[in-house]
Amino acid sequence: MSKNKRPQGGGKKPVSRAGGPGGGQRNLHVRVKTARKRTLASTLWLERQLNDPYVAAAKREGMRSRAAYKLSEIDAKYKLLKAGLRVIDLGAAPGGWSQVAAEKVKAVEGRGQVIAIDYLDVDPLAGVTLLKLDFTDETAEPLLKSLLRDGQADLVLSDMAAPTVGHTRTDHIRIMGLAETAAHFAVDVLAPGGAFLCKVFQGGTERELLDLLKKSFRVVRHVKPPASRADSAELYVLATGFKGAAAPTGGEAAEV
Ligand SMILES: C[S@@+](CC[C@H](N)C(=O)[O-])C[C@H]1O[C@@H](n2cnc3c(N)ncnc32)[C@H](O)[C@@H]1O
Repeated sequence: MSKNKRPQGGGKKPVSRAGGPGGGQRNLHVRVKTARKRTLASTLWLERQLNDPYVAAAKREGMRSRAAYKLSEIDAKYKLLKAGLRVIDLGAAPGGWSQVAAEKVKAVEGRGQVIAIDYLDVDPLAGVTLLKLDFTDETAEPLLKSLLRDGQADLVLSDMAAPTVGHTRTDHIRIMGLAETAAHFAVDVLAPGGAFLCKVFQGGTERELLDLLKKSFRVVRHVKPPASRADSAELYVLATGFKGAAAPTGGEAAEV
């Protein structure tokens, strides 16, 4: 996908992934009739999917998920992914972020490395090492580390989200628990100068997590890429300029 733009329809030239296909498509709004076996919620979900330009672009451009565009958009702005980097992708299924990362770090060419983990199946992806495992399992972190070149990563990504139960507070606590576990892992595994990008929840990142990130990284900011639905509580925390495992002092990061 081209840099930091929403996929377009409606007579405008659709955006394509860098090096990927574009191609024009009319942007007709599809209405879904309620059917006897379909609930109103599923009718509305279906209608939103059918009219979502990112869903259409993902299909057209062979991306595994519409979420792939969130990483593409964040990367277009903050230049996280470069050839030769070692990347960990936590909560990778169905593989959109890994796909974007593998292309950018040139994993197929053997320059960079992408190691992805999810407890769900991910279909094989060229250049990506896939682990089917719960990240919170005690074996996961040592296994991920053992697979990294020189035992360190340059970028830790986490788009992990537990299935929502619809109870806002419970959903918030669960997602923030995953984010905290991911952050501790990032601080443990990153090489100096590395970065951490992680899904959190609107309402901000918990103070404890922010404090850890601000102590360990030069800059900490919240980002909401255009591909993240405006009506969703989803947000990302991006921490860049990892100070190194043994650099607890030297002032706190700027929070942007
Ligand atoms: C929003 S999806 C990720 C989408 C992905 N970034 C993409 O572009 O295709 C969130 C994923 O997190 C995974 N997940 C949640 N908790 C996890 C855990 N404890 N260990 C591993 N994966 C987890 C879920 O199984 C789900 O596949």
